[in-house]
Amino acid sequence: MSAPIHAAIVGTGHYAPARVLTNADLEKMVDTTDEWIRTRTGIRERRIAADNEFTSDMGTAASRMALEQARLAPEDVEAIYVATCTPDMFFPSTACLIQATLGAKRAYGFDISSACAGFLMALDAAGAAVESGRIRNALVIGSEKLSAVTDWTSRNTCVLFGDGAGAAVLKASDRPGIRSSLLGVDGNLAEFLSIPAGGCRQPTSEETVRQRLHYMHMAGRETFKIAVNTMLGAAQEAIARAGLTVADVDVMVPHQANLRIVEAVAKRLGEGVMERVFLNLDRYGNTSAASIPIALSEAVAAGKIRSGNKVLMVAFGGGLSWGGTVVEWL
Ligand code: UT7
Repeated sequence: MSAPIHAAIVGTGHYAPARVLTNADLEKMVDTTDEWIRTRTGIRERRIAADNEFTSDMGTAASRMALEQARLAPEDVEAIYVATCTPDMFFPSTACLIQATLGAKRAYGFDISSACAGFLMALDAAGAAVESGRIRNALVIGSEKLSAVTDWTSRNTCVLFGDGAGAAVLKASDRPGIRSSLLGVDGNLAEFLSIPAGGCRQPTSEETVRQRLHYMHMAGRETFKIAVNTMLGAAQEAIARAGLTVADVDVMVPHQANLRIVEAVAKRLGEGVMERVFLNLDRYGNTSAASIPIALSEAVAAGKIRSGNKVLMVAFGGGLSWGGTVVEWL
């Protein structure tokens, strides 16, 4: 019997747009304060993409960095999985647009829509394809231009989100990379976090625009409680399925939605876990599917993730959807 094929992360990259929007800037736009945003969320500033800068552009930039780190040329890429809830268009997929700008001539690709849990869903799917032997590598991207679907008159949401992209290169390996992946959804809670109009259920009309239904809507307080419980459950299950204990986790890279959510999950996971958490939400806010891959790439660049480390990623978002993934770093 031949040895099992594993899917290992061999390169990471990220891209953040140049424009910084601070809490002080938001104070001038809606009825909020820097103090409220910092104490309720931990966010200090976020990045906003330029008018002519799109999800595919940011995804391409993050991919170039990840490919360079992986020492892979665009022509070597076999598959492109893009997690996004803000695609350039309904179709063609953002993956097609990235394939073209990268010059990834041999790659197929498609988008995965699972809001903030999207990157872990994409990593799972791409990882399974690599492990099956059907492909030898895959580019897994999380990219979002949330500023395009943010209601800049609503303080309930506009202080939370930002733009950016992260990417990881998965490659077939004889040593474990992805050690476990636990995913879940509960569509009964779909209305907690959604963009109600613009799809076939409520096609865009003057009325939907007037009611601002083409923007993100969120039941924040309700979402908060479920986020903590599901992220905790996903983290515990992913750790157990990897055959590890919480003490074995070297670095935790959570979805960067709210510092209070991350702290609550880390505290419930166990003593000292918070010290092992990588955080960048103070600088980016919630970038949905881009959140974990940006943090992963920054953690690698900062030398916080090293060879042999067990890295726990955990996410939660619209769907509702969630995921926990344990990766052993090569
Ligand atoms: O990406 C994954 C999915 N999303 C999340 O995980 C987000 C989950 N939810 C949250 O992070 C938090 O619920 C929020 C940050 C959205 C809100 O924090 P909260 O502590 O749950 O506040 P709240 O919604 O209970 O609101 C408390 C008060 C309200 O005023 P009253 O009713 O107490 O008078 C709000 O109107 O804060 C008010 N408020 C604000 N005040 C100043 C809401 N937004 C703002 C704001 N500035 N931006």
